[in-house]
Amino acid sequence: MAFDLEAGLQGKSVLLTGATGGIGREVALAFGSVGARVAAVDIDADRVTALVDEMEGGPHLALPYDVRPVAGHTALVEQVIDAFGTLDILVQTAAVLVRRPSVFEVSEDDWDFQHDINLKASFFLAQAAARCMRDQGTGGRIINFTSQGWQSGGYGGSVAYAATKGGIVSMTRGLARSLAPDKITVNAVSPGAVDTAMMRSGMDDAAMAGVAAQIPLGHLAKPSQLAGTVLFLGSDHADYITGATINISGGWLMY
Ligand SMILES: NC(=O)c1ccc[n+]([C@@H]2O[C@H](COP(=O)([O-])OP(=O)(O)OC[C@H]3O[C@@H](n4cnc5c(N)ncnc54)[C@H](O)[C@@H]3O)[C@@H](O)[C@H]2O)c1
Repeated sequence: MAFDLEAGLQGKSVLLTGATGGIGREVALAFGSVGARVAAVDIDADRVTALVDEMEGGPHLALPYDVRPVAGHTALVEQVIDAFGTLDILVQTAAVLVRRPSVFEVSEDDWDFQHDINLKASFFLAQAAARCMRDQGTGGRIINFTSQGWQSGGYGGSVAYAATKGGIVSMTRGLARSLAPDKITVNAVSPGAVDTAMMRSGMDDAAMAGVAAQIPLGHLAKPSQLAGTVLFLGSDHADYITGATINISGGWLMY
């Protein structure tokens, strides 16, 4: 049997958060290149529009939006349906990381900021998307982003971030079980260290080299090295995978 690289992705409708981030951007470009249509969500309107203008295929949709007001999530999904007719795949990369020097310097605001974006918004947008996927009767894919921190627990001042990412793994498993009868699969991608603005925040070159030295493959991931796994999870090749957390860490963690 010929191996179909598009694997059902052509013409699929994708809602992608964090679309102009390091990893999100590569995911958007990759979906565009296989003929999917992408509704790109991120905070900065100019950046979202520039991304959509750059993408192959389409037409795509620029949706500047801060994911925190969860009351707006249903309307966000409706805009995708109005533009594309269906919603087939939700990919949630939007997240923030606040690194503090130690656990003792993590404030309540730090906790709420990271939980509101990384975990709370991810749950409610998944809920809004799943409602739509259930009602359209064709199933769907939800792909969440966790982090190696879900497993390690983070370090010092990044424990609050790690807790949001632990929540993503638990939530992914619970949603996978709950939504399976509606033919909606839910999986998580778990990057190790990826060379993006988030990874570099608060890290100097020596700290970055220290991270690279712990990785068996010897270097941080390029953001594009995450995109293929997201496409795979959205494709026909992954139609029997649900509740999984895919470790993409160059061997930094092994599980
Ligand atoms: N870079 C890494 O090493 C690494 C490691 C583990 C996990 N991750 C995860 O991968 C995902 C992508 O990370 P990245 O490295 O590309 O980060 P990034 O900072 O480059 O991109 C994150 C994007 O999310 C957007 N965003 C933040 N808050 C938002 C909000 N309230 N509403 C809408 N958009 C918002 C940002 O504007 C940004 O474009 C994240 O979930 C992150 O936790 C990254």
